Amino acid sequence: MLILGIETSFDETGIAIYDNNKGLIANKIHSQTKIHSNYGGVVPELAARNHVKNIIPLIKKTLKISQLSIKDINVIAYTAGPGLVGSLLVGATTAFSLSYGLKIPIIPIHHMEGHLLSPMLEKNKPIFPFIALLISGGHTQLIDAHKLGDYKLLGETIDDAVGEAFDKVANLLGIKYPGGANLEKMARKGELGKFIFPSPMINDESMNFSFSGLKTSVTNVISKNIFNQQDYYDIALAFENAVIDVLIKKSLKALNITGYKQLVIAGGVSANKSLRFKLNKILQEKNKKLFFPRKKFCTDNAAMIAYTGMLKLKNNLQDVPIKKLDIQIFPKWNLHDIYY
Ligand code: KG4
Ligand code: ZN
Repeated sequence: MLILGIETSFDETGIAIYDNNKGLIANKIHSQTKIHSNYGGVVPELAARNHVKNIIPLIKKTLKISQLSIKDINVIAYTAGPGLVGSLLVGATTAFSLSYGLKIPIIPIHHMEGHLLSPMLEKNKPIFPFIALLISGGHTQLIDAHKLGDYKLLGETIDDAVGEAFDKVANLLGIKYPGGANLEKMARKGELGKFIFPSPMINDESMNFSFSGLKTSVTNVISKNIFNQQDYYDIALAFENAVIDVLIKKSLKALNITGYKQLVIAGGVSANKSLRFKLNKILQEKNKKLFFPRKKFCTDNAAMIAYTGMLKLKNNLQDVPIKKLDIQIFPKWNLHDIYY
């Protein structure tokens, strides 16, 4: 059985094909980063227009490299939310049109469930139950992933998402949007000690996060002084450490409270090597295990959407009722509300 995955929740157009026997067959992304970096962030209208331009050619290209025809596809899985309305509508309209035209089933997928399950695209898979730390440009959540489709929110950011904080601080350091990955490269050249930023809410009892105060601390330091390049590297490292420390502390708390032995990190920020290294070390010491996907599955992609679709189908789970000719999107959608 072949599943076509369609991802258009934000600024990346993603198309993938997953075979329930052979695994992932193709995974293609059309990135809009260059367009949006000129504006310092994603412009929703431009994102939607570019999805319209790119989605059909990308589907054709993905089928061609897989030596398949659209008629070989058995099921469509598409991102139904959360995300930008215009962007979601492009993917959903394409998905529903294909499903109607080809007379094949369609499965709406929650984007964050796709991220949460993305480490299962790897050979070394986590097994339910586990804790998931979902860290992207729009989300920072700690989830008790009890079983497929049964997710309990343990904590989340009360203001900025962690990726958003990376992007804003990167901008202050002169890096173009989205700056998270390049901030990490700067931090690698940094030296410890000259700057120290407090890890927000690190001693707070809850499993919530806050990153907007940290961003303000960095802004204050930068605006009051004239720095050389090495200072910028040092600031990047101090910021990264402050973020990583609080992510680790709260993840350990979630593991302790639930007694689970596995931690999944997913979403764009989980590509951060320093976070992976430190978490891996500390979890090994505690006889617990860390799982994360390859870098290309950390950021937005359709492979995780097609894979999630396959799992839903196998387990006979449907997140929302499908009505004929009713194009379903949910721009605001909680992960713990995915089943009706
Ligand atoms: O999951 P994602 O691709 O899109 C959303 O659903 O938001 O995450 C994108 C976010 C951006 O904020 C980007 O700066 C951040 O992930 N990011 C990183 C790294 N690579 C991407 N943040 C820190 N370190 C990285 N290596
Ligand atoms: Zn995402």
